[in-house]
Amino acid sequence: MKRPQNEMKLCFPSLSENERLARVAVGGFLAQKNPRVDELSEIKTAVSEAVTNCIVHAYRDTIGTVELTAKLSGDEVYIKIKDRGCGIEDVEKAMEPLYTTLPDEERSGLGFSVMESFTDRVTVKSKPGFGTAVVLIKKLRSKI
Ligand SMILES: Nc1ncnc2c1ncn2[C@@H]1O[C@H](COP(=O)(O)OP(=O)(O)OP(=O)(O)O)[C@@H](O)[C@H]1O
Ligand SMILES: [Mg+2]
Repeated sequence: MKRPQNEMKLCFPSLSENERLARVAVGGFLAQKNPRVDELSEIKTAVSEAVTNCIVHAYRDTIGTVELTAKLSGDEVYIKIKDRGCGIEDVEKAMEPLYTTLPDEERSGLGFSVMESFTDRVTVKSKPGFGTAVVLIKKLRSKI
């Protein structure tokens, strides 16, 4: 991404009520671009999936910090969701549709698929024992 015109950072504990906080914060940050309603809801849903993964997987039996960074450059939105939780052994496998390590807890293994279909690019960097960073990139389409 080119030099961002605006950015924000938000840190919060991995409590399930903060999934909503992340959605609202991202929505508020993007309001300056006056985005289309459908695009905004796609971005918020992708963010929710990434934040939920921090809550349910990264910090499975504990509470840790989730760090959300959002940047805007022109029509490009960049959002990073980072945790210092358990990390992912095999990122490629984790990103396969329907792959989940928690099938007994009604997880469907579609979080990464949702992130991919609702944004233009998803990159995941992870190190077992150190944590995971998910970057979502999406170009806003102009309004007609
Ligand atoms: N931040 C994370 N830290 C550790 N493991 C993760 C993280 N995000 C995802 N994973 C791993 O990747 C798998 C796939 O994630 P994905 O979001 O696609 O599915 P899910 O969370 O299992 O199910 P769903 O999102 O449909 O409820 C998870 O089951 C988990 O093992
Ligand atoms: Mg998930």
